[in-house]
Amino acid sequence: TEKIVIAIDGPSGSGKSSVSKAVARHFGLEYLDTGAMYRALTWHVVRSGASLEDPAAIIAAAEDFPLQQGTNPDAESILVGGTDVAEEIRSPEISSAVSAVAAVPRVREILIQLQRDFIAGASAGIVAEGRDITTVVAPDADARLLLTASEEVRMARRGLQLGGTQNAEQLKAQVAERDAKDSRVNNFTEAADGVVTIDSTDLDYEATVAATIAAVQKQL
Ligand code: C5P
Repeated sequence: TEKIVIAIDGPSGSGKSSVSKAVARHFGLEYLDTGAMYRALTWHVVRSGASLEDPAAIIAAAEDFPLQQGTNPDAESILVGGTDVAEEIRSPEISSAVSAVAAVPRVREILIQLQRDFIAGASAGIVAEGRDITTVVAPDADARLLLTASEEVRMARRGLQLGGTQNAEQLKAQVAERDAKDSRVNNFTEAADGVVTIDSTDLDYEATVAATIAAVQKQL
């Protein structure tokens, strides 16, 4: 059987991560969370004492980035220099800093290369998700999908994910600001040519997974 590469993009709270993992399990593929890579690099930048306003220092950290990331959809793991950063990379501090790191062109070059290496190394295949997978990282993927949902639904989902540590207004402002900054770098709200949109606004998790699997199957 041939190797399968599935590319999934979408904004924050679109359900990309949980849906991508379910799709990977369904097809027996590896799973790559590229947002986690940008978050882990941001953790590394903050840890190194570099200023987020100093692109040269950010680039230096990216060029010496001891990342170990697992690709098993049932056992995610992410370590930087041997430190498990899985929880810390989801903190409000990292969430508000990540867009600045991800906007540095040289940083993107380095991480995109790393992402392509993961894709090349996945023997059965992989589901890679992020903001630029369908357009930049793997435009030649076997299946390419854009996962969207109304802003209201996305905010509600993010709220559930964060367990309510921030109030709804703070959360909404932070997510909107991050999407706006990220939109200057990549268009992940409109589907590029050949990319199929799944709008999950009126779908629950199970229905979204089913619709995504059906859309993948159609493209294979
Ligand atoms: O997907 P997630 O919200 O965890 O992504 C965190 C951040 O990483 C995004 O806000 C964006 O700045 C960056 N990112 C990116 N390109 C990707 C995936 C994530 O720039 N492919």
